[in-house]
Amino acid sequence: MRIPFSRAPVTFESAAPFLKEALDNGWLTTGPLTERFNAGLKKYFGTDNVVPVSSCTAALQIALAASDLKRGDEVIVPANTFIASFETVELAGLTPVLADIDPATWNLSLTALEAKISPWTKAIIAVPFAGNPLPMQALRRIAEKHGLKLILDNAHALESRYDGEPLHHYADFSCYSFYATKNLTTAEGGAIVCSTADMERVRALSLHGMSRAAWNRYSGGSWRYDILETGFKANLTDIHAAIGLTQLHTLDAYHTRRLELMARYRQGLAGLPLRFQALSEGATESDHAGHLFCISVADGAGITREDIMASFSEKSIGFSVHFIPIYEFSGVAAKHGFNPADFPATADYFQGALSLPLYPTLSEAAQDEIIALIRSRFEKIVVTRAE
Ligand SMILES: Cc1ncc(COP(=O)(O)O)c(C=O)c1O
Repeated sequence: MRIPFSRAPVTFESAAPFLKEALDNGWLTTGPLTERFNAGLKKYFGTDNVVPVSSCTAALQIALAASDLKRGDEVIVPANTFIASFETVELAGLTPVLADIDPATWNLSLTALEAKISPWTKAIIAVPFAGNPLPMQALRRIAEKHGLKLILDNAHALESRYDGEPLHHYADFSCYSFYATKNLTTAEGGAIVCSTADMERVRALSLHGMSRAAWNRYSGGSWRYDILETGFKANLTDIHAAIGLTQLHTLDAYHTRRLELMARYRQGLAGLPLRFQALSEGATESDHAGHLFCISVADGAGITREDIMASFSEKSIGFSVHFIPIYEFSGVAAKHGFNPADFPATADYFQGALSLPLYPTLSEAAQDEIIALIRSRFEKIVVTRAE
């Protein structure tokens, strides 16, 4: 790809000193570099209650396990999300219930959420889509009113804030992804932020339910450990933490750059029959994490998002679609029989959805080329019509 969809801000030069340390000490797995990376995360999140894990998917599994839910309990999930937010509910023996999104913010609609709450509902997994915070106080109020656990799938929302607070402030469990395309990457990795009361349990669940991690035992502690409950094998390794350590000091600057590039896209594409993501009520522009820049080609725009995709492919420019709605997948449809007509806002967004390249090292020249290409695709229609 000449202009890739995503590019991690990591180089051999930036990672080499950390990787050398991780390899030369001979330990490789969860150890001193993971501890140092986690110290950076704790500072960034402003809390000690952080457990680094191997992925956001693992974080969601652990959050659900720590929520003390019973087989068959219902968990409400937005229809516009990655499969991980849905499959982890199923894997926990719980029943996922899909709710539609808000047509403007493309986040879980609080109206749709409330309409889906039943006597069996026990938790909500909300997803700040693309990094757009939800109206967190209103969401928290709904969770409290119905006695529901609030789990945030914050895969896109590392930097997101609402009303001056990081989003984890409002949730019982917040699950982060450090996958290769994310704003902070360890190649594969993640973290959970939880309450002080849940902290030891979450830590144990991330490693087989063990009372003491291997690093603590081998670095001078006792050999003896207990298994407190059935857990997961979800620890982050020192090799992955080494990659993460290259980026902790650049998080704020890269976030600012992402927001600047988003503003440039909006400006450059203004006036076209495209829809952009609206901020949630009460959120400001800097509350958005700037993880993805998604557009939706309006129905009746004269061209489709597939036309834009074709132009991108011709010029070797990367793109993606976030997300194929959960109910569209054959394996989900066969099992749950969701009715697509129940999710009109998700379907309307998805028919035109396209995610454009967005990363801190995306040059303005490359971005201008992308903007010009989209504009020219629409201009072609106007010319054809005039002819
Ligand atoms: C909304 C959302 N949730 C969960 C995940 C899963 O993250 P991971 O690959 O770290 O398990 C992703 C990954 O892209 C995501 O976009």
